[in-house]
Amino acid sequence: MEVIIVPDARAGGEVIANGIADLLWRKPDALLGVATGSTPLPIYEALIAKVQGGSLDASRARVAQLDEYVGLPAGHPESYRSTVLRQVVEPLGLSEDAFLGPDGSAQDVQAACTAYDRALAAAGGVDLQILGIGTDGHIGFNEPCSSLASRTRIKTLTEQTRIDNARFFDNDIDQVPHHVITQGIGTILEARHLVLLATGEGKADAVAATVEGPVAALIPASALQLHPHATVVVDEAAASKLKLADYFRHTYANKPSWQGL
Ligand code: GLP
Repeated sequence: MEVIIVPDARAGGEVIANGIADLLWRKPDALLGVATGSTPLPIYEALIAKVQGGSLDASRARVAQLDEYVGLPAGHPESYRSTVLRQVVEPLGLSEDAFLGPDGSAQDVQAACTAYDRALAAAGGVDLQILGIGTDGHIGFNEPCSSLASRTRIKTLTEQTRIDNARFFDNDIDQVPHHVITQGIGTILEARHLVLLATGEGKADAVAATVEGPVAALIPASALQLHPHATVVVDEAAASKLKLADYFRHTYANKPSWQGL
């Protein structure tokens, strides 16, 4: 696992967007797994600026969703489908045909989950998966004690996650669904490269447990330790509880330039 400590969220977005640009240069039709939440926004902003500035051609890129609420009406502005279309797909100038996601309004939720795992495999698998992290260490919506081998499936949110996400629903927790579809941890681990961005002091405990704690279902993000190519990008505040912070800084400062993200 590589840990990159950056001064702030904007710098983190820039580092990851540069890595994505390199990937799209090597593989123009790469499948990018995208996360929602506030944290990844600087990545998308940096990527969109590159496309709009003409330094990056992302016209053949494909985008895959990480997770979704269950039961929101189709087209609800806070469904993750609507969010990803609004924040990533449309500003990059891509069509909905380039977008893959699970059907959160399906009658048969488990069938929708299984169909999504199949669709990801049929699309050749995710090349680079962007991840955020919940305050409890969740990735996607894999709450603590999710199986580290799990596939895409329905999950029940913790009350803390519903409280954290109420800001997207007029600060009204009653509007936040209890159930979600999420790529499983086993599904996420199949992506060729995992890139987790965490910013702010509120994520410091979760980051320390993810990077330096034991691999444990209690901290779902710790499964990144099992992946051969995982990159954790953190700002100073989110890095503040890392014991090996100086080593991570030293390693990154001396990284061979040919190595890329
Ligand atoms: C939600 C999403 C996660 C995201 C997390 C943290 O639970 N399902 O993918 O990582 O929120 O969000 P934020 O980045 O806004 O803190």
